[in-house]
Amino acid sequence: MKRSLFLAAVIAFSGLSFAQTEDEKRLSSILPAIIERSEAQYRRLENAAQKVRVDKDGSHRVPHGYIAAENKLDMRAIFWWTSGHFPGSLWYLYEATGKDEWKCRAIDWTDTQAPAADYTGNHDTGFRMFCPLGNGRRLSPGHRERYDALLVRSAATLCKRYHEGLGLLRSWGKIDDKKDFIVIPDNIMNLELLMWASKQKVPQASFFRKVALSHADVSMKNHFRVDGGTYHVLNYNQQTGRVREIYQGQGANCLTAWSRGQSWAIYGYTMMYRESGEKRYLDFACKLADFAINHPNMPADGIPYWDFGAPGEERDTSAASVMASGLLELARFVPGEKGKTYRAFAVRQLLSLASPEYLAKEGENGGFLLKHGVGHKPVGSEIDVPLDYGDYYFLEALLRFKR
Ligand code: GLY
Repeated sequence: MKRSLFLAAVIAFSGLSFAQTEDEKRLSSILPAIIERSEAQYRRLENAAQKVRVDKDGSHRVPHGYIAAENKLDMRAIFWWTSGHFPGSLWYLYEATGKDEWKCRAIDWTDTQAPAADYTGNHDTGFRMFCPLGNGRRLSPGHRERYDALLVRSAATLCKRYHEGLGLLRSWGKIDDKKDFIVIPDNIMNLELLMWASKQKVPQASFFRKVALSHADVSMKNHFRVDGGTYHVLNYNQQTGRVREIYQGQGANCLTAWSRGQSWAIYGYTMMYRESGEKRYLDFACKLADFAINHPNMPADGIPYWDFGAPGEERDTSAASVMASGLLELARFVPGEKGKTYRAFAVRQLLSLASPEYLAKEGENGGFLLKHGVGHKPVGSEIDVPLDYGDYYFLEALLRFKR
C-alpha cells in the first residue's frame, strides 16, 4: 500500500479527524500575525527591561507589569511569584519562531532566576522556576544538566512547605506557623514541578510524587464546592485537619468563584492527569471546566469577569488565557463531543484575546501583549492592567493550538 493511502487508512480506522472548524481556520490564519506582533512587543519590552533590571542594591528584577500613568515598567524581585513568567514567555517566543535572538534572551533572563531555587517564602516555586527552566530544559538540551539540577533543588525547596499530617503544601505564611495553615487553588499549578522531579533519577523522587498527589487529593476534597466552583483561601486546623476558616482572598466574596483561581484549578488538575495518569484528576478537571464554561455569568466572548460573582465588572484576560491553555490540553484527553466543546471554547477565547479589544497594538501596553488583566481587585491592586502571566499562558495556548 502506498504511504499516503496507508496513513489515510490509519486515520480513518482510528477515528482521528484533522478537519478544522471555522473558528480554528480563522485562528490558524491569524496565528503568524499574532506571533509577529508578540515579537515586536517583547523586543520593546525586553530592551526597556534591560535598562532597569538591576536594582540600586545590585539585586535582579524581572518585568511584571506596566504602570501606564507613569509610563513605567513594574519590575519585581526574582522572588516575586510571577518572576518566572517573563523568561518563560521568551522561551515560548523561541519555540514559536526558532530564532536565536529569543533563545539568547531566554537564557539570559533564566540564568537570573537561579537564586530563587532556594526561596522558601511561599508555594510559588513552580511558577518561579518551572516556567523558565522547565521550558529551557525542553528547548535547549545544552542547558539541561544545569537546569535539571536547579529544578530538583527547587522541588526540594517547595517540599519544605509540606505538612505530613495534613497532606498539604502550605501556600502562604511562614513554614512553621503553628496557628494558620493557608492553602489556595493556585498551589495546584506548582505541583507540575514536583511531578517532573518525581520522574528524575533522584533519591527523593517517590517523595515528590507522594507530596503532589496528596496535595491534589486533599484539595480536591476540601477546596471546591459541589457545583465545581473554587474557594480562594482556606485556613486549615493543623491538629484536626479540618478547614477552620474560608476567606474571600482575591475573590469577590467567600461564596463566589474567583475566575483566575478557577482557571488555575482547571489547568492544574488537567496537568495532574497528564503527569499521573490517575483518572480521578481528569474527571475533576472536567467538572471544574464545566462550571466555568457553562456559568450563566460567562460572557459570550469567553473572557470571564474577574470573579464569576461579579458580572458587569472588569474582565480578566489572565483568567482567560490560563483557562484556554488548560482547556486545549483537557480536550486532548476527553473523547467525543465533550472534548470538542472544550477545544471550541478555548479557540473562541483565543480569538477574542487576539482581537483589538484585548490584544495591544504595537508600541502600546508597555510592550505586554494582553490588556485588561486583574490582579487583586479587593485590595484595589492591578485592576485593568497587563500582567506577565496573562501573556505567558496566552503564548502557551497559541503553541498548544498550533501543535
Ligand atoms: N497566584 C496569585 C494569583 O493568581 O494572583
